This record gives sequence, structure tokens and C-alpha cells, in this order.
Amino acid sequence: MNILNNKKGYTSETTLFIETYAVGETILLGSLIGSLLKAGDVVALIGHLGAGKTHLVKGIAEGLGIEDKKGVTSPSYVLINQYMGRLPVYHFDAYRLESAAEMYDIDCVEFFWGNGVSLVEWADKIMECLPDEFITVTMNTIGQTTREILISYHGERYKGFLKGLRSGVQCLK
Ligand SMILES: Nc1ncnc2c1ncn2[C@@H]1O[C@H](COP(=O)(O)OP(=O)(O)OP(=O)(O)O)[C@@H](O)[C@H]1O
Ligand SMILES: [Mg+2]
Repeated sequence: MNILNNKKGYTSETTLFIETYAVGETILLGSLIGSLLKAGDVVALIGHLGAGKTHLVKGIAEGLGIEDKKGVTSPSYVLINQYMGRLPVYHFDAYRLESAAEMYDIDCVEFFWGNGVSLVEWADKIMECLPDEFITVTMNTIGQTTREILISYHGERYKGFLKGLRSGVQCLK
């Protein structure tokens, strides 16, 4: 994987732009992200069908100490899967939601403001439910096995997270 430092507009303090060249690299990036997350953190995952959101989540779960990677799947029909690692993990998938109101029906706020880590696939469909501070991961397919991954955050709470992630990715090289 590579950090794309020379992409215009993507080298600011609050964004990290990465390209992965194989699914395993996306999982590795996820596990690095997972190792840096803290109780109450919220990650909004955005990207079209097959962009790699669930595979990134598999890695994040691994980084949070969840051993059963196969058990980490898109909760498209059930809306939320829960896993237990060093912290509770709440894995949402908003793909099938008609409106953000349905997130309130399952008391999403309880999860977002709780002591676990919330990972939300198709977060762009329910942005209004998210807390003021969250991490955004936007994924794009560039080629069959190449993905562009833009990581940014809203809220000072995540300043250290992004710094840690940048050094972590640099160390992988
Ligand atoms: N570099 C890569 N990173 C992630 N996935 C990749 C990569 N290269 C190929 N793939 C493939 O792309 C697909 C990504 O599927 P995944 O379920 O993670 O996407 P998704 O964004 O969660 O889709 P959905 O919106 O349907 O839930 C998998 O088949 C995976 O093997
Ligand atoms: Mg998915």
C-alpha cells in the first residue's frame, strides 16, 4: 500500500490518502485502524457496492482483538452485528435503510454514545444520526484489486488517531 502524498488537496493534517493493491492490504490497513481506536469512537464508511468496506471492517475487528474474522460480515439485513474484542464492536450497514429515522428505531444513539466502537457501512445514508465527532473512510475502486481510501475526521478527538495511523502506515513499508 502507498500513502498518496502528492494528490492535490489530500495532504492536510486532517486527511490521509492511501492506495491498497490487494484485499489483504485493505485488511492490514483495517487492523492498524482497529489497533488505534478507543471506546466511543465512530467510523463512517462510505463507498459503492464492492468498494471494500466490509473487508476493511474485518481488519478493524482483527485490530480490536476479534479472532473470528469470518464472522465479520455485512449486516445488510439485520442492520447491526455485534462482536466482542478488547472493546465491544457495533457493525452497522445502512444500505437497505429508507431513511435515517430507521437508525433511531434501533436506538443507534445508545451505541454511538456507548463504550464500544461503532463502524457504519453506507454511513452517507444516515449522516444526520452520527455524533458531531467521527472518522470518515471513503473507498473507491480504481482497478480490479486497487482501492483508493481517503481517511479524514471531524472533531479534535481524532487528531492523535490520524497521526498514529500515518506513522503506522509509514512503518509498514
Ligand atoms: N484492494 C482491495 N481492497 C478491498 N477489497 C478488494 C480489494 N481488491 C479486491 N477486492 C475485492 O472487492 C470486494 C470487496 O467486497 P466488500 O464486501 O468488502 O465490499 P463492500 O464495500 O462492503 O460492499 P457492500 O456495499 O456490498 O457491502 C471483495 O470481493 C474483495 O475480494
Ligand atoms: Mg459491506
